Amino acid sequence: MIFFKRLISVLWLFLIFSCIDPNGKKPHVTTPYSLPIPQGFPQPALPNDNILTEESIILGRLLFYDPILSLDSSQSCSSCHNPSFGFTDNGKIYSTGVDGSIGTRNSMPLHNLAWSKRFVWDGAMPSLREQALEPIQNPTEMKENILNVVGKLENQPLYEQAFNAAYGDPEISPDKIGLALEQFMLIILSGGASKFDKVNAGIESFTTEEQLGVQLFNAESNPNGSPKGGDCFHCHGGALFTNNTIVNNGLDSVFTDLGKGGITKLEVDNGKFKTPSLRNLAYTPPYMHDGRFQTLEEVMEFYNSEVRSNSPNLAPGMTGFIQSHSNGSQGLNLSLSERQAIVAFLNTLTDTQIETDTLYQNPFN
Ligand code: HEC
Ligand code: HEC
Repeated sequence: MIFFKRLISVLWLFLIFSCIDPNGKKPHVTTPYSLPIPQGFPQPALPNDNILTEESIILGRLLFYDPILSLDSSQSCSSCHNPSFGFTDNGKIYSTGVDGSIGTRNSMPLHNLAWSKRFVWDGAMPSLREQALEPIQNPTEMKENILNVVGKLENQPLYEQAFNAAYGDPEISPDKIGLALEQFMLIILSGGASKFDKVNAGIESFTTEEQLGVQLFNAESNPNGSPKGGDCFHCHGGALFTNNTIVNNGLDSVFTDLGKGGITKLEVDNGKFKTPSLRNLAYTPPYMHDGRFQTLEEVMEFYNSEVRSNSPNLAPGMTGFIQSHSNGSQGLNLSLSERQAIVAFLNTLTDTQIETDTLYQNPFN
């Protein structure tokens, strides 16, 4: 009995002391941030070892916009992920690194990543915290050593304060940099403020053309009958407009970029790329992993009649895109006005909040 009483009082003391900072300072307090999940979205699987707090998001945003992360302080994450372009690289096909070297893939938008589990076009990256550190050290991007970045940040009182506010400790480490950047990227949303979402909420309505577009988008391929179908929803369906799979949509019969196969070294993975979200496309041309299409009209031409039936590992969901017609041609067989209707519908997915939300903006401006 006495033993238990002692144990309990020891536990009490432990609890009390653990709340008091040894330097007599106040205990570290952070402000929880609750992600405002847009109407109709599923629950995201947020990492439970990196709970969102306002302090870490503020730190992550500073790091995201700070060119100090690059070799010669000329390039920040936002150089290639600009909110005015839906967090992509200013309309460029490929990005240029600090030393002028040119990359081989089109920069990706950064919205709704809280619902994504694999990152970059080939899905090589399993987490945002790991992906956050990659471009800093990539020789064709920011080309800096992460320990140099730590050293440079340590010389800045701004970061001493910001790391202290986020972690209760001013010490700076690569891990903490990755976690803070992860938090900032997790909170970037596209949804709720687009015309599509407003129509869903009953506040606005589609034009006749947009209405035709949404019907075609959600209908199975039917090239030899009527009405026709666009067959997009299998891969780009739901509120996120992606099923987050890594598949081959039939762009090429011979691959110059192996995609997932380049990572796994398995032939069955050649030509497979991450299915992108179709939200905010108006901000993010050019399109596809190599930026080969400048416009959505070109994208629709491709899906209508240029899908390569002999593309190795073509996704089963692409079968409807290579059906034969009575006249010997192949494809969805959509008319020009039907293709335009799908483009009109895709443009209703534009959410201007991506460039106006003060939470996402450059804190140094
Ligand atoms: C020089 C241009 C450049 C810079 C600088 C850059 N990125 Fe990127 N980013 C890209 C490109 C290109 C891709 C696609 C890479 C691929 O598929 O191999 C990409 C992809 C990503 C993705 C994957 C998104 C998805 O949907 O899978 C994330 C996340 C990302 N970058 C975050 C960052 C962060 C954080 C920084 C700063 C630390 C940064 N990037 C700096 C060009 C850049
Ligand atoms: C079998 C799955 C699948 C189907 C069906 C499909 N897509 Fe895709 N889509 C993809 C993949 C995968 C990519 C990326 C391919 C790449 O870059 O190599 C993509 C890319 C895109 C892009 C480029 C987006 C960007 O950010 O670069 C657009 C636009 C697009 N698809 C629209 C559509 C439309 C419209 C339809 C219906 C006509 C459709 N897709 C049908 C899987 C699919």
